[in-house]
Amino acid sequence: MAEVFSGAGDHHVYRGDLAAGAELICRFQADGTLTYANPDFCRYFALPEGSCTQVNFFMLASGHERQKIKAVIQSLNHSRPAEDFCSVTAINNETRWLHWSSRVLFDDQGCPVEYQAVGRDITEVKILEDRLAAAKFDLERRLERRSMELAVANENLQRLVAMHEENERKLKATLTKTSRSLLGVIKAISKMIEIRDPHTAGHQRRMTNLACTIAREMSLSVDQYNAIYVAGLLHDIGKISVPSEILSRPGRLTEVEYLLVKAHPQVGYDMLKEVDFPWPVAEMVLQHHERINGKGYPQGLKGNEILLEAKILAVADCIEAMGSQRPYRSAFTLSEVLKQLVANKGVAYDPDVVDACLTIFRDRDFDFNRDVELDYSL
Ligand SMILES: [Fe+2]
Repeated sequence: MAEVFSGAGDHHVYRGDLAAGAELICRFQADGTLTYANPDFCRYFALPEGSCTQVNFFMLASGHERQKIKAVIQSLNHSRPAEDFCSVTAINNETRWLHWSSRVLFDDQGCPVEYQAVGRDITEVKILEDRLAAAKFDLERRLERRSMELAVANENLQRLVAMHEENERKLKATLTKTSRSLLGVIKAISKMIEIRDPHTAGHQRRMTNLACTIAREMSLSVDQYNAIYVAGLLHDIGKISVPSEILSRPGRLTEVEYLLVKAHPQVGYDMLKEVDFPWPVAEMVLQHHERINGKGYPQGLKGNEILLEAKILAVADCIEAMGSQRPYRSAFTLSEVLKQLVANKGVAYDPDVVDACLTIFRDRDFDFNRDVELDYSL
């Protein structure tokens, strides 16, 4: 208690190890004058033993604490005879915190005669609490800063996402527009081919309607459906190399003429192979006259050597052609066409494709002239 008892004597030295467990017990009067102090109390405050009555309890606290402690003690009465409080004191220039339990004793007339206090050093706890509070404060500030940084980052991210979504929407719109333009060109080419052969006018469109409906019936992907749509519209593009007199002339073709017509899948492939479609359109056009038994042309491919999409084109091509009038023959009836289809199931045509096609005609109210469209749902 350097502040108050700096001259207390060398043999009464404060010992830090007392702080941990000592119980400081004292009794004092209303003005703070001590009447008793136990040995731990004396050692703690470096009081000469037996001279505690020279000391004022309130003066043991640091200056700014004294009035507060005095007020607590003087407030003790019958209805509130005991009170706990904390005090700060300075010992050997070191700040120490004490926790006190105090009480007042009354005489027979009910007047206060004595005050008692039991104190414990809580400095270590107080330091720990202060450190924890400082750490908590620091952590809260860090969290606050981090939250603000995250909020800014989130705001920037949302702005980027919105910008990306807007760009994606514009890109999608541009792509759709480009796709529709390209599709317009494909349809124009498709019609151009058919103009040269008036007897097969509408064949590619009607065949495409059937091929795409088979693709839907077989639950093919949107990609496969779109590939069939484009390849269907262009599958006879190679006929551009066949003189129009041969295409439009009634009557059966000579063997040479027939060979010329049979070259159209290869010619079509050669025309389309450089076009960068997102699907194997050129290969599908090349294979649309192949048969699973290897008796098709131009390569005589068998079974799984043929693309599934080309197998669908083959069935749709034949069904549409058989059902249409030609200069050299009448149109087959639907039942005749389906009979042929069943007869060639697993022979010339893929059985799954035939089954899907039969379902369409028997159960789905299919109409060759109900146009399908490219699927933009990708
Ligand atoms: Fe063809």
